[in-house]
Amino acid sequence: MTSSTEDIRAAARLLEAGKLVAIPTETVYGLAADAGNPDAVAAIFAAKGRPSNHPVIVHVARDADLSRWAGEIPQEAHRLIDAFWPGPLTLILPRAVNVPLAVTGGQDSVGLRCPSHPIAQALLKEFRGGQGGLAAPSANRFGRVSPTTAQHVIDEFGVPGTGPLAAVLDGGQSDVGIESTIVDLTRLATHGPVLLRPGGIGIAELEQVLERAVNTPDAAAPRASGTLDAHYAPHTPVALVASTMLDEVLGQLAQKDRHVALMAWSASSATVSASASLRMPADPQTYAHALYAGLRALDAKAADIIVVEQPPADDAWQGVNDRLRRAAFDSTGVLDKLLA
Ligand code: TXA
Ligand code: MG
Repeated sequence: MTSSTEDIRAAARLLEAGKLVAIPTETVYGLAADAGNPDAVAAIFAAKGRPSNHPVIVHVARDADLSRWAGEIPQEAHRLIDAFWPGPLTLILPRAVNVPLAVTGGQDSVGLRCPSHPIAQALLKEFRGGQGGLAAPSANRFGRVSPTTAQHVIDEFGVPGTGPLAAVLDGGQSDVGIESTIVDLTRLATHGPVLLRPGGIGIAELEQVLERAVNTPDAAAPRASGTLDAHYAPHTPVALVASTMLDEVLGQLAQKDRHVALMAWSASSATVSASASLRMPADPQTYAHALYAGLRALDAKAADIIVVEQPPADDAWQGVNDRLRRAAFDSTGVLDKLLA
């Protein structure tokens, strides 16, 4: 059930008191705390089991005064904000001096995002009179699949009051389904804008608005936990398999009596040999929307492996392919072992 205005007001008061509240956004659900309160931010890290040197994104209301958070707001930031906020875009900017180091992971930069989900917007307007910031990583344990429903959050952290959460706001299923696009604007003079994490907004759209190239990260680019090789992973091993190989691989797994959970997007006869299968949409937006719920559902089948049919390689699929690659990273070699 969607949270009411009363629920939103109560959540704002809990956050002002330093408590943790899970909130819906258009990308994924976030585990929110007052970004101005270092103890509250520390509680996020404890709940997630996340290393404290990883920075968290600060979520702000539509009319928030960004100079409270960013020491400098380059013209590139204004362009991107005008084009994409509120929405699934996070900007990395030089931090303002008063931003707690707990938020920035000790770095000199801060990640800022203005989410478009109406409940997130209403909450940010209510919280500290619309001038506060909510630190919120995705509401999952470190390295695991991000939640796209309130139930996923409860599966992860327990019902409010029994664990780290004081409340969960319910805003239905997240629209975009994968985390925000992250663009680093802290090293413009030397590196230009840098795409740290692909997401709902594609590189072509960014370049069109900026009228300049957006680069991919070099070794010195800021740390981002969502950019670790292994991330977004279910408990069951995940293998990415090309469409052309799907029939053969599934046939071989069936011969070995392996239990396979299949995530396929193209019309294929192969699904019959899997113990569980999920038909995914064939366009990137709807696929992204369904991705994490799909991985969670297949993870619950206790299969030997989740076989994911590799989506197309073109730009529109960049965000989805990035998440799938990371979900499969720790499972390298598992498929070969199951076939041996
Ligand atoms: O869509 C999203 O961005 C969701 C929703 C809840 O807003 N949040 C999210 O947060 O994905 P999280 O913490 O799971 O991932 C945020 C990413 C991390 O990879 C983090 O390292 C990076 O943003 N990040 C945050 N602040 C940063 C900074 N100052 N410099 C570099 N990376 C930063
Ligand atoms: Mg995350």
